[in-house]
Amino acid sequence: MAIFFDAQNKIFYLEGKNTTYAFGIHACGCLQHLYYGKKVGRDDLHYIAADGPSAFTLRSPEDKKTSYQHIWAEAPAYGRGDFREPMYAIRDEKGDRLSELVYVRHEILSEKPMPAGLPALREGETLVVELADKVHPFTVRLYYTVYDDLDAIARRVEYINNGESAMFLDRAFSFSVDLPRSDFDVITPYGAWAKEFQLDRTPIRHGVTEIGSKYGATSATTNPFLILAADGADEHRGEVYGFNLIFSGSFAMKAELSMMGTVRVLGGAPDFDFTWKLEKGECFPSPEVVMVYSDEGLNGMSHQFHDTYRRHLINPHYVHAKRPVLINSWEGAYFNFDNERLMRMIDGVKGTGVDMFVLDDGWFGARNGDKAGLGDWVVNEEKLKGGLKTVIDYTHAAGMKFGLWFEPEMVNPDSDLYRAHPDYAIHCPGHDPMLGRNQLVLDLTRADVRDYIVEAVSKVLRENEIDYVKWDFNRSVAENYSSHLPADRQMEFQYRFALGFFDLCERLVNGFPHIFFEGCSSGGARFDAGLMYYFPQIWTSDDTDAYMRTLIQYGASMIYPLSVHSCHVSACPNHQAKHTTPFATRADIAHLGATGYELDPAVISEEERAQIAEQVAAYHEMEDLVLEGDLYRLSSTANSNFFAEELVSKDKTKALLTAMRAIPIVNDEIRTVYPKGLDENMVYHIRELNIDLHGSTIMNAGLKLRFPNGDYASAVWHMEKV
Ligand code: GLA
Repeated sequence: MAIFFDAQNKIFYLEGKNTTYAFGIHACGCLQHLYYGKKVGRDDLHYIAADGPSAFTLRSPEDKKTSYQHIWAEAPAYGRGDFREPMYAIRDEKGDRLSELVYVRHEILSEKPMPAGLPALREGETLVVELADKVHPFTVRLYYTVYDDLDAIARRVEYINNGESAMFLDRAFSFSVDLPRSDFDVITPYGAWAKEFQLDRTPIRHGVTEIGSKYGATSATTNPFLILAADGADEHRGEVYGFNLIFSGSFAMKAELSMMGTVRVLGGAPDFDFTWKLEKGECFPSPEVVMVYSDEGLNGMSHQFHDTYRRHLINPHYVHAKRPVLINSWEGAYFNFDNERLMRMIDGVKGTGVDMFVLDDGWFGARNGDKAGLGDWVVNEEKLKGGLKTVIDYTHAAGMKFGLWFEPEMVNPDSDLYRAHPDYAIHCPGHDPMLGRNQLVLDLTRADVRDYIVEAVSKVLRENEIDYVKWDFNRSVAENYSSHLPADRQMEFQYRFALGFFDLCERLVNGFPHIFFEGCSSGGARFDAGLMYYFPQIWTSDDTDAYMRTLIQYGASMIYPLSVHSCHVSACPNHQAKHTTPFATRADIAHLGATGYELDPAVISEEERAQIAEQVAAYHEMEDLVLEGDLYRLSSTANSNFFAEELVSKDKTKALLTAMRAIPIVNDEIRTVYPKGLDENMVYHIRELNIDLHGSTIMNAGLKLRFPNGDYASAVWHMEKV
């Protein structure tokens, strides 16, 4: 039992492994947050609650002791004296926007109800609290899912119109929590194409700090997570709160430091260019958020997110399955291939242990570059004589499986699909559509467009022996308008687009359960927990440079488990960053995820080709750590010359340390790293040093980093229980 209600004191206790989250029913009827942090006793926590009103604050007409400005709210409303950010904003047909919610009833469910049409954590004991507006016929249901063996809580909200006339939601966030302290740094991701998952860390300031996306996807410019690190918390020490949305569309997340020194964190679907019309009886289900608390620093927080997503988010059929080590044709051939070229690539890795050949962009329609063909999911027989079958048969004969690239949500104006159905593309009458990479986005808010996509992609999957699909999304959605929505629902477009995408995933992923789906969006522009519910693996970045990947993969690992990060060894000099990096380093860094190759094996040196077999074997030796292990980030290239990460098996019998030095510096200081997470009393053999040491020695005396000569040199240390 992770959820307990103290009926006498009217307090809900949500108890994770080491966490308590508590809130009560206030005398005024609203829900009052009481505590979120390290596990505490089930005491009457009202003693700690916020003080009453001060001079000049607005007070309830029924109870002069109540001021929403001071209450730590669970579901903060607008228009009744709480001047902080509200969790939601309603408007009725008369223009009345005031709201005040009171407790009606609650239920504790042993089986988690899933939100309609949205990805969410699977399973878990769930508390549903129903609140009613004092004036409007409007109900809000708060859902809390808690796991007693984890320190993660999932929250979401349903907003329901019980009245006869329509009502509008101008904001409908997924959660809000008030933390009664202000000693936080805010950590948020920022980035761009080929530079995803960079991290900002700044002391919280009064007012609102926010991140969000208007791209129609979660985007490369940020990612839907926000972290609060208390009192100088670092990777290994201190209290940390992490918040991550399970969503793949535009979003908003905010942290507001109030005048009383409390921090309110909230977020969900975007509140910009958003209004949702609720007709009589209609319900708006918000996306889910996952909240994690840890008193073991950022690594402790990451362990909780990783374990939660492995147990309850990622498709259980694939989450623990060994990932195919693949070779992808993109950086090796781009659009320039025919059967012979692809066969040479397949020959190049035959017998190395690479298990799958993935044919990327360029196999369909008139797709000889990025100007034409998107939308026409029919094989280009000028390039692939005899159709896909010839390549698939050749791949199978070489002992490998076959994977194929799609970009289902897109269309080039120069395509048969666009010529037949120009209206399928998103456009706003009177405005010439913008082009991004010469393409337009299909209107996923329309059921007929989604039906077309499902059938076109399914046909290829039905007619060919395909084991893997790479699902790409290479432009943003800007012209948020659908000719199939009435004027007063146009501002639902962004959210409906995300729901349309999830519908496609439901139908295609469930329709082909034997196919392994990998997500992609010009690299990591839709790398999020929403996608992870459907796709067990996502291409982390188009930047395949090992140095850049140390930064990108480091940031992504804050929230997302390594098995999701798709990471490839690519050609040198690197096509994006132009760095010259040793082949070994490229593999060592690409092994910190679901690994593969992205180069033309027909043109690399004999020596490198021979190394592929060794690298694949080395990966197989450690892949259980990637799939199941605990990650410890030890050093970042964001603020040092060194990258170091360690993976430790859950039973602590096996660990791997991977490190890279960006550039050699003459007379550089000694660099020691201190591995974590080992068993102090266990003796480990360190293969590369040929030495046996206690875990306590390794963790406290450390390991001196030594590298081969040259730029971007890497090294690994295998540790195994003696
Ligand atoms: C995007 C992807 C790449 C590749 C190309 C194909 O950029 O991120 O991996 O698939 O599209 O056009």
